[in-house]
Amino acid sequence: MSTEISWEDHYKNATDRLPWDIGTPAPELEEAFGMLKLHGKPVLEIGCGTGTNAIWMAQQNCRVVATDISPTAIEQAKAKTAEAKVSVEYLLADICQAPAVKDGAVDFVFDRGVYHVMSPENRQVFAKRVGESLSAGGYWLCMAGSKDEVRENPDVGPPQLSAVEVIEPMERFFEIYKLDRANFYLPNGTKHAAWIVLVRKR
Ligand SMILES: C[S@@+](CC[C@H](N)C(=O)[O-])C[C@H]1O[C@@H](n2cnc3c(N)ncnc32)[C@H](O)[C@@H]1O
Repeated sequence: MSTEISWEDHYKNATDRLPWDIGTPAPELEEAFGMLKLHGKPVLEIGCGTGTNAIWMAQQNCRVVATDISPTAIEQAKAKTAEAKVSVEYLLADICQAPAVKDGAVDFVFDRGVYHVMSPENRQVFAKRVGESLSAGGYWLCMAGSKDEVRENPDVGPPQLSAVEVIEPMERFFEIYKLDRANFYLPNGTKHAAWIVLVRKR
């Protein structure tokens, strides 16, 4: 197991929506689709949770592979996908243990709140895997918690990374296309500061 938190326990024991599971596609993803013209392209989502963003990409006519480490998350994602009457290939997989797709198989990779939960060593592995999954010139859009947020209780909310911590493992494999401020909006209406990072395979 490459992460300390049991993601499966989070999903299995949830009595309400988990804080990251907002149920609507990330606006940053929609914006990237418009800018990069990704409609109809092969794409990968790592750590897809209950599938909201994977389903949205399938609705944009993309061939979507979506992976998560939690069997319950994947089960819920499959049920939502069937309801939405679209097709997504779901894989129960740990991104740090094995590649999710064949080398060069996708033009775009999305992760929202996954890279940031990794240890610094696993962020290197993650970045390498994303690079291998992408076709030449493919893009990775990553949303990660930001250290710039001052919190009363640092344990409540997503992990907080500096811009350097986010970017440094990526730079070997990717050109930095865009680094901007964003927010993680929670189902209860609150928000946490985030980085939105768009990088292009070297
Ligand atoms: C904060 S949640 C975000 C879920 C989803 N991206 C969203 O925005 O709703 C992090 C997700 O990453 C998954 N995850 C954590 N470590 C993983 C790994 N090594 N490989 C694949 N998925 C992982 C968790 O099970 C969880 O669904």
